[in-house]
Amino acid sequence: MVDVHDLNEGDLNQEDLSSRERIPVDVVSSADEGARRVAAEVAVLIRERQMANAQVVLGLATGSSPVRFYRELIRLHREEGLSFANVVTFNLDEYYPLAADHAESYRRFMQEQLFDHIDIPPENIHIPDGSVSREKAHAHAREYEERIREAGGIDFQILGIGRTGHIGFNEPGSDAHSRTRLVPLNALTRQDAARDFLGLEKVPPYGITMGVGTILEAREVVLFAWGQAKAKVIAQAVEGPVDPALPASFLQHHGEAWMVLDEAAAGELSRYRFPWLVKLMDWQPRLIRQAVSWLSEETGKSVLRLVESDYADHGLADLLAQAGPAYGLNIRIFNELQHTISGWPGGKPRADDSTRPERASPHPKRVLVLAPEPLDDVFGLGGTLSRLVRQGHEVTVAYMTSGSLGVPEEDAEGAQELLLEAAREGILEAPSQERSLSPDKAPPASPSEASGKAPSEAISKEQKANQWRRLKALMRRREARSATALCGLSADSLRFLDLPFYETGRYRSFHPGGADARAVQSLLEDLQPHQVFATGQGEDPTSLAAVCYGVFAQAWEATQDAAWRAESRLWLYRAHSEDWPVHAVDMAVPLSPDELRAKVSAVYCHLSQRNQLPGTGEAGDEAWYRAVRRNRAAAGVYHRLGLAEYEAMEFFRRGD
Ligand code: GLP
Repeated sequence: MVDVHDLNEGDLNQEDLSSRERIPVDVVSSADEGARRVAAEVAVLIRERQMANAQVVLGLATGSSPVRFYRELIRLHREEGLSFANVVTFNLDEYYPLAADHAESYRRFMQEQLFDHIDIPPENIHIPDGSVSREKAHAHAREYEERIREAGGIDFQILGIGRTGHIGFNEPGSDAHSRTRLVPLNALTRQDAARDFLGLEKVPPYGITMGVGTILEAREVVLFAWGQAKAKVIAQAVEGPVDPALPASFLQHHGEAWMVLDEAAAGELSRYRFPWLVKLMDWQPRLIRQAVSWLSEETGKSVLRLVESDYADHGLADLLAQAGPAYGLNIRIFNELQHTISGWPGGKPRADDSTRPERASPHPKRVLVLAPEPLDDVFGLGGTLSRLVRQGHEVTVAYMTSGSLGVPEEDAEGAQELLLEAAREGILEAPSQERSLSPDKAPPASPSEASGKAPSEAISKEQKANQWRRLKALMRRREARSATALCGLSADSLRFLDLPFYETGRYRSFHPGGADARAVQSLLEDLQPHQVFATGQGEDPTSLAAVCYGVFAQAWEATQDAAWRAESRLWLYRAHSEDWPVHAVDMAVPLSPDELRAKVSAVYCHLSQRNQLPGTGEAGDEAWYRAVRRNRAAAGVYHRLGLAEYEAMEFFRRGD
């Protein structure tokens, strides 16, 4: 059989799609739909076994990806009477060392996300124990395997995928035949967990995980992935070679493994990246732009230098037949790309705007920038923000959440120490109680010890936790004010919405309600903006950015009939996830070297977030370096296509 990877792109035809994708993929319209589909299948299995008086053995995963699936199982239990009395479960993994009652233990996660809400007998639940001693870890792992065997093996295994391509905690380098064992965690994996654990150094260094071999023995395997952050690793796992460097690729060897993806997570598969290679296309303008910019990158030639044979040799003869010759097509696409570049993100007053991304009037515009939390604004569009202010627009930045969960403990402790020291030296007024707010520090032994305060003034552990969180929120407010001041904004242009879903939630467990959307709706009605900049579309649905986008989308829809909406336009920006491919960009705002420097200073103000982004965690990956790299790379894309060379760029997409 010919390996499709040895073929030239031009040799491929429709039939090759299935051979390119070596794991069956189901692309669903939303994570909820995917969760419903898989839960329905599991429910059938559970009921069939119930009728036969037999058990079902499920292999379960943690992380964000299966959360919707668990919610759907809970709904089936509550609303459709699905019983889990005959279900036995084995979880993939657990951090090590970690106590079962630690807030971030997978044991706790499973209780909260699923087990506490269904009728599974507790003795049927199995999760590796992160608290066994090191000497006993090996025996514990062997025993875990033994339990799986005794239960008759796993019928249905749920998986997520880590950024390293890991399944469970089987990090790159894991063997196809590996079994349950203690493993060191990869640096990237620990970095990804740093936010949950409130600091990288608090993330356990090891994990106990089922092996790749254990997983592959399950009779059916389903892997969930949502959001564009997973797109690259998914494409490698599905279309690349089987490689221990990417453990999820081992699923190619399993006859009954499939993936359930949303469009964002599937976005790097060939069928989306170069759909013309796998099927006959109806050449819509956006698709033509995608094909020509892809061809330019692929050949290393600028758009205006592409010739007939470049198109023909790369599977685009069909496009030429419909929209050629190459010369005219090149010019057309060059102009289209050129027209997306604008140094006037709010529109250029009194100018011809027929080919500009934004309308000339009204001027000035009322502009609303929605940031899920402080930093998202300046990181995502700091340069554009400065331009909007400079060009006379009335800009409001609204921080949807306080961002308190994102402040590392040691930063809050540092802030507290500073306040107390200043008070002791009489620089600040002495606080009423000189005590530690940190909930981790033991509360005073007796009320009278609380700096001599009366019992009524001693505060509960919960109040203390809230105050600690509040201190963190204030730190982020201060950072936001400093950063936006560098973009020319005054403090009264900022709104801190402190949406309630965030204050009562934690990562992966945010449950927004009516009050959240109403708060955003009243902000919209109050400002009646001509431009709204929002972010979070296409992200993992449990991520903060996506939850915030959902809240905004609800408010946006609720105002759709308002008169001011006829004049308003929605722009999407990307905060921390990768930039859009160039064909998807509707507005590219160039930044001069000075503007880029100013942006970096603004990002730098968010010191508490220096290592909080899902990066590599290595030196040189701090937020400000990343901002520079990303915006320079964006400009590089345009330059390679043959357009002007700018220092840096910020990308936007029309949202309506
Ligand atoms: C952790 C878990 C994996 C999980 C991965 C991805 O590392 N051990 O089993 O698949 O995270 O998590 P998420 O679904 O949150 O992206």
